[in-house]
Amino acid sequence: MSVRRSLVIGTVGLATVLAAQTTALALPSADSAGAQAAAAARPPGAIVEGSLRALASTTGLRIGTAVNTDLLGEDAAYTEIVNREFNTITPENVMKWEVVEPQQGVFDFTGADEIVKSAQANGQLVRGHTLVWHSQLPAWMATNGGTTTTLTDQQVKDAVKKHVQAEAGRYKGRIWAWDVVNEAFNEDGTPRQSIFYKAWGNSTDYIADAFRWADQADPSAKLFYNDYNIEYTGPKSQAVYDLVKKLKAQKVPIDGVGFQTHLSTQYGFPDLQATMQRFADLGLDVAETEVDVRTAVKPGATEGTFTSEPLSALHAYTQQAYWDQTMKACLFVQRCVSYTVWGVADSNSWIPGVFPGEGAALLFDDDYQAKPEYTVISQDLALAAGKARHRTGEGSGGR
Ligand code: G3I
Repeated sequence: MSVRRSLVIGTVGLATVLAAQTTALALPSADSAGAQAAAAARPPGAIVEGSLRALASTTGLRIGTAVNTDLLGEDAAYTEIVNREFNTITPENVMKWEVVEPQQGVFDFTGADEIVKSAQANGQLVRGHTLVWHSQLPAWMATNGGTTTTLTDQQVKDAVKKHVQAEAGRYKGRIWAWDVVNEAFNEDGTPRQSIFYKAWGNSTDYIADAFRWADQADPSAKLFYNDYNIEYTGPKSQAVYDLVKKLKAQKVPIDGVGFQTHLSTQYGFPDLQATMQRFADLGLDVAETEVDVRTAVKPGATEGTFTSEPLSALHAYTQQAYWDQTMKACLFVQRCVSYTVWGVADSNSWIPGVFPGEGAALLFDDDYQAKPEYTVISQDLALAAGKARHRTGEGSGGR
């Protein structure tokens, strides 16, 4: 504990730490026996003083995490953290197309139902993720990373309509926000050449249609466009800006833009606050939807394996500084309605599988112990307490 505190002081400054002497400074642990006892001792949905969800609720900000059904309700330590710390959850995989419609017209909502049920029992809102995405499509729909299909253009259109209506309709009134369309642009700002883009005649008009169908199926959900690397000023961010500006002008039912915020310390910190404010000024909500901060990690005992330990103290400090800035960016933008981290512990993050040699990207370590990053963002939330409640936490009313 004292070691962790001194790491934080090194990053965010002594004044900040001294100003935030709240219960949030106690780093929570979640060993399995302790987690079970803690969970059993309070009713589902009860708010634990000093938790991230308690601190965030004082400003109306929603704080969330991505969850998986192989751990939620199965692993006591994981489940305890999810329900104690977060008031919003996002299914990391089980609402994706390949999972819910593995064969055409045959739906399997088992995992998605579990998550929605768990959220309701624990007083959490659900960010639905995601209705239209080129990745993780079932084989009957597309191959080659969502770029080729055996279906005709009309069949693709019909399948998208049916899929959006079926999934958004099933959870009508129970999803707070949907990522309706995910990752529709390339880094250079050109539209991704997905089967959707092609089926609509090489046009991004599928995006407007998807939002309209989602709105028809669930009028009370906030509807988001979601993407990565749009935190940085550049052609991709500009392309998304132009798109959502056009959608607003066309009265397409869009409520917000999700900035995934998958960051790495090897790149500079993005101009996130200014970018989110620019989008918010279009009359949209904004959110950080998949926050993680990866860095280079120490090698493991066996060649080719890696630990979840940052390569040096400097790597760790930089991660903490990045987390601090992601949270402050959201706190400083009035229309930033939610801040979601992409997983619970470093051991269940997608990062090591995709970026070998990088990791340590989340708030809890492999053993579910809170890291200094946790303290950094809880301090930010504590410092924001008592500021005006300016965020719209509920439904699509702000459209
Ligand atoms: O469930 C199957 C299992 O049955 C099979 O044996 C195993 C073999 O590889 O795969 C399992 O599926 C994996 C799935 O995660 C569930 O664990 C997929 O292979 C794997 O590709 C998939 O990765 C997910 C990835 O999206 C897919 O592109 C990550 O967990 C998830 O964190 C990641 O999340 C995305 C967001 O949805 C969108 N933004 C970027 C973000 C990170 O890539």
